[in-house]
Amino acid sequence: MSLIKAAITGVHAWAPDYILTNKELETLIDTNDEWITERTGIKERRILKGEGLGTSDMGVMAVNGLLKKKNLQPSDIDCLLVATTTPDMQFPATATIICDKVGIKNALSYDINAACSGFIFTLVTAAKFIETGMYKRVIVYGGDKMSSIMDYKDRATCIIFGDGGGAVLLEASTDENGIIDAILRTDGAGREFLHQKAGGSVKPASHATVDAGEHYVYQEGKTVFKFAVTNMADVSAEIMERNHLTADDIAYLVPHQANKRIIDATANRMGVGADKVMLNIQKYGNTTNGTIPLCLHEWESRLKKGDNIILAAFGGGFSWGSILIKWAYDTK
Ligand code: UT7
Repeated sequence: MSLIKAAITGVHAWAPDYILTNKELETLIDTNDEWITERTGIKERRILKGEGLGTSDMGVMAVNGLLKKKNLQPSDIDCLLVATTTPDMQFPATATIICDKVGIKNALSYDINAACSGFIFTLVTAAKFIETGMYKRVIVYGGDKMSSIMDYKDRATCIIFGDGGGAVLLEASTDENGIIDAILRTDGAGREFLHQKAGGSVKPASHATVDAGEHYVYQEGKTVFKFAVTNMADVSAEIMERNHLTADDIAYLVPHQANKRIIDATANRMGVGADKVMLNIQKYGNTTNGTIPLCLHEWESRLKKGDNIILAAFGGGFSWGSILIKWAYDTK
């Protein structure tokens, strides 16, 4: 166990202004507000409109906001990692693009793609740079422009996803608070149920793949739902057990926002009441890598130093996991 602990010492999030409501979706596909609300908990999601704007542009808003909040200069940042499934381009890494746009020079920066678990996987990766003493300040941005890979004719997927994300700053903890424990898992056999069929090396983009809509998200929702409920609840309960925590010890569950029913099942399994669950799926839908930092940003002022919070996610791969954090600061 490392002697240095990594702690989140700041958070900032950003989502685009345009609100795509369930009512507007009713005009695009055969659906209705009641079905979407009941089956997912989502009322609206944000969409990044505008030619030439991508994930990096949302990242720039979040990272600049974070630097300002923490009174830091771009030159203070040693490393910036990006968790995304919708990079600006296949390469180079969106992290390098954000650094360039923000003015972070000569820092280590790269992307990690672990679908909806990307933010928690990347947070743990970033923490290791702090714990080993290699870097002093690391930023993790998690965010996605899911609208860029959405088929707005497919009512089973387009109702769920939205655009947005957030960034956290990691520094060495000065006390016992910080990232305490993590359980991170994958099972590649799950890929058949949630993936993007074309645009990668197996099936490069072509006129035929675009005509067939194979650049959009493909999801077998029912199967993904089943695995998500079991696995996200299991790891969340497991991390409590192995750290000898009961529901009373938990200040907040910070779940990936994919479907309110998955979140409810996880909270039930942990024995945690709704008042301790960060939930903003109704406003943003599933922003993939953006959901957890968007929650942390919204709840930041309510978090207290020493609070036990559990981050939990499930997504494509399959990938899933949970992280136990002792929150490191009070917001002034
Ligand atoms: O974030 C990463 C991982 N992703 C997830 O965790 C998502 C997991 N899956 C889900 O959240 C849910 O499976 C969905 C929200 C995607 C779908 O909900 P469901 O309750 O599993 O619905 P279903 O796919 O079983 O469909 C039930 C019915 C079907 O009609 P029939 O065949 O029973 O007549 C669908 O055609 O609901 C129909 N349906 C809709 N009806 C109105 C599917 N989508 C819609 C819609 N509006 N948007």
